[in-house]
Amino acid sequence: MSDIYRIAIDGPSGAGKSTIAKAVAARLGIDYIDTGAMYRAVGYKVKQSGIDPDDAEALDKMLADTDIDFTEGRILLDGKDVGDVIRTNEISMMASVVSAKAPVRAKLVEIQRAMGTRKSIIMDGRDIGTNVLKDAEYKIYLTASAEERADRRYKELVEKGEKVDYDQILEDIKQRDYNDMTRELNPLCKAEDAVELDTTGMGIEEVINAVLDIVK
Ligand code: DC
Repeated sequence: MSDIYRIAIDGPSGAGKSTIAKAVAARLGIDYIDTGAMYRAVGYKVKQSGIDPDDAEALDKMLADTDIDFTEGRILLDGKDVGDVIRTNEISMMASVVSAKAPVRAKLVEIQRAMGTRKSIIMDGRDIGTNVLKDAEYKIYLTASAEERADRRYKELVEKGEKVDYDQILEDIKQRDYNDMTRELNPLCKAEDAVELDTTGMGIEEVINAVLDIVK
C-alpha cells in the first residue's frame, strides 16, 4: 500500500482556498497545487495571443502548443513563471471564460490527475472533489458569504495600495460564482462526501486548524 494521500479543497472565489491550502501544505509537509492558477495561465495566454476564446479551432491549436506545469509552488506557462501576471481582474475574468471550454478542462484535468499520483498533495479548485480527484482521501468544501469574500478581497487590495470599489468587487464575485456554478462542464458544487466549512466570521488560523482537524 502506498501512503500517499490527497486533500481536495473546493469552493467559490475568494473563500480563502489558496491561503488555507498553502498553510496546511506547509504544516503537513506536502505539495500544494493551485489549479485556478493553471486556468489563469491559459486565460493569460489566450489574452496575450489575441485569439477569440469562442474560436474552437484557434483554441485547440493554441492548447496543442501550450505547456502548463506547477512545480515547487510556481506556475509555469511554456516554461516561464507567470505567477505575477495572472492575478489581475482582467485575467480573472478570462480564466472564468476559458475554464468553461471543454478542451481546456480536458487538458488541465489530465495534468492535475497525474500530479495526484506521484506524492501527497493538497489541491484546490472547483471540481477537485467531484471530478479531478474523485477518490481523494479528504474532501473539503470551503465557503463564506459573498459579502465576506468581497470584504476580504477589498481589504487585500487596499493594503496593496490599489484604488478599489467594494460594490464592483462584490458584483464581480457574484458574477464569477454564477459562471462557475452554472457552467455545463464540471460546475462548482460540493461533493457528496465533502465536509463543508463555512468560514464566514472565522480567522485564518481558525480555518487552518479546522482543516487540520478534518485531516487528522
Ligand atoms: O481559483 P481561481 O480564482 O484562481 O480560479 C480561476 C478560474 O478558474 C475561476 O473562474 C474558476 C476556474 N477554475 C475551474 O474552473 N476549475 C478549477 N479546478 C479551478 C479553477
